[in-house]
Amino acid sequence: MPEIKFYARPAVPIEMHKVKIVQKLSLLPARERLKSMYEAGFNTFRLHNSDIFMDMLTDSGVNAMSDNMQSAMLRADDAYAGSETFYRMQKKLEELFGISNLLPAHQGRACEHIIAEHLVKNGNCVIMNYHFTTSKAHVTRLGGHVEELVRDEGLIPKSQNPFKGNIDLDKVRACVEKEGAENIAYMRMEAGTNLIGGQPVSYENMKAATELAKSYGILTVLDASLLQDNLYFIKTREESMKDKSLREIIRMIGDLYDIVYFSGRKFGFGRGGGILIRDEKLFHDMEDLIPMFEGFLTYGGMSVKEMEAMIVGFEETMDLDVISQSPQFIRHAVNTLDEMGVPVITPAGGLGAHINAREILTHIPAEEYPAGAFVAALYLCGGIRSMERGTMSEERNLDGSEHISSVEMVRLAFPRRVFTLSQIEFVIDRVKWLYDHRHLVGGLRFTHEPKTMRFFTGKLEPTSDWPEKLVEAYVADFGDDQ
Ligand code: F0G
Repeated sequence: MPEIKFYARPAVPIEMHKVKIVQKLSLLPARERLKSMYEAGFNTFRLHNSDIFMDMLTDSGVNAMSDNMQSAMLRADDAYAGSETFYRMQKKLEELFGISNLLPAHQGRACEHIIAEHLVKNGNCVIMNYHFTTSKAHVTRLGGHVEELVRDEGLIPKSQNPFKGNIDLDKVRACVEKEGAENIAYMRMEAGTNLIGGQPVSYENMKAATELAKSYGILTVLDASLLQDNLYFIKTREESMKDKSLREIIRMIGDLYDIVYFSGRKFGFGRGGGILIRDEKLFHDMEDLIPMFEGFLTYGGMSVKEMEAMIVGFEETMDLDVISQSPQFIRHAVNTLDEMGVPVITPAGGLGAHINAREILTHIPAEEYPAGAFVAALYLCGGIRSMERGTMSEERNLDGSEHISSVEMVRLAFPRRVFTLSQIEFVIDRVKWLYDHRHLVGGLRFTHEPKTMRFFTGKLEPTSDWPEKLVEAYVADFGDDQ
């Protein structure tokens, strides 16, 4: 892969694509952003996109498509049942993962719904390297509980460990001992482990963990939503895999699991999802849920145009030029912020740059959501929309107390092929400014707090007039027009 060398300038990551279609952006003046933030209840999910300059909330469904993806949309075969597009998608996924049974679903959480609905019974345990919000919610909704068995190093913010998403085999053994294998619905491993900073799992760990689960008769499930980043890290960080092609690696991974599911909003750069199920009987048992919750078996709630685009997206995922783009940009941002003294999660992972708010905002109690406050502040200081990944994203304990998250992070997602390096430099600059003015940031409290996944739709307010003071300091430095 091109890490392009420079002659007279320090090397920077280079876009291996050119822009063909653009969307105009605008940078609202800071005092107007303050107004928008109040209207959004200090929750960046509630902002209007037109009030945002750099939308780094997520990479989900907002990745740029290639010319080939767009043109493939024209040949989409519209049919309620039996669409040729579905069969093309099935064939491509079988070619990559070696599993032929495909259930289509409209996005990743829909796959999680179907899987949990069929497999999780009240009182069951689901083993995970780490939870994702929706994957956990679907298990707990059915009376199950999740055991997160990531290795301890995975939760250390600053580290050199190349595979912080690895699951701890001793913890798996102890968990099976405690719960009983028959009470474990499945073991879900998440590639590119989202909530600990887009940290990858090694092939070696996937192999050992799935072998262990199988020795207990436990079903193995891969969440492949962030597999494209994970593939890049296996190829570039795992010594024994460096001579393998991406196609070989993905097939070796596929061969390990009973079920592979994905959010096509990430994997495939489109909008959709799918579940690959190795066992014929299990596949047929789960099949009935698709027409009930998603749509007929050959579209599952997806637009066939998006399905066609994703088929091309899956193939593009086999191109190292394509999948290395985001990790290289992220590494640039993480390493630059690190050099500037801003606490970030290292090593740089996939998905986005992650800032350690717990270490920055030590004066804000965990119950006042330091990461949530930083996220709100960063919007005020540059129109940058990021996402809270900490206590606010957790659900309360049964007794109503806060469940303090093991990580308290701000995520700056890097949608694929969307931003240029100069835009990333702007973000780095504003993060540094905010870090230097961190004493001006205060806490948040809920004014409207939904029971489930409160971070999506909840509303909050600042615990003092800190946003006003922060904006005035910002305007004093940058003027009142930006
Ligand atoms: N699994 C992982 C690892 C994810 O990151 C996501 C979504 C899902 C499942 C659910 O997929 O959104 O298509 O329903 N992650 C998005 C994010 C929302 O912003 O990280 P979905």
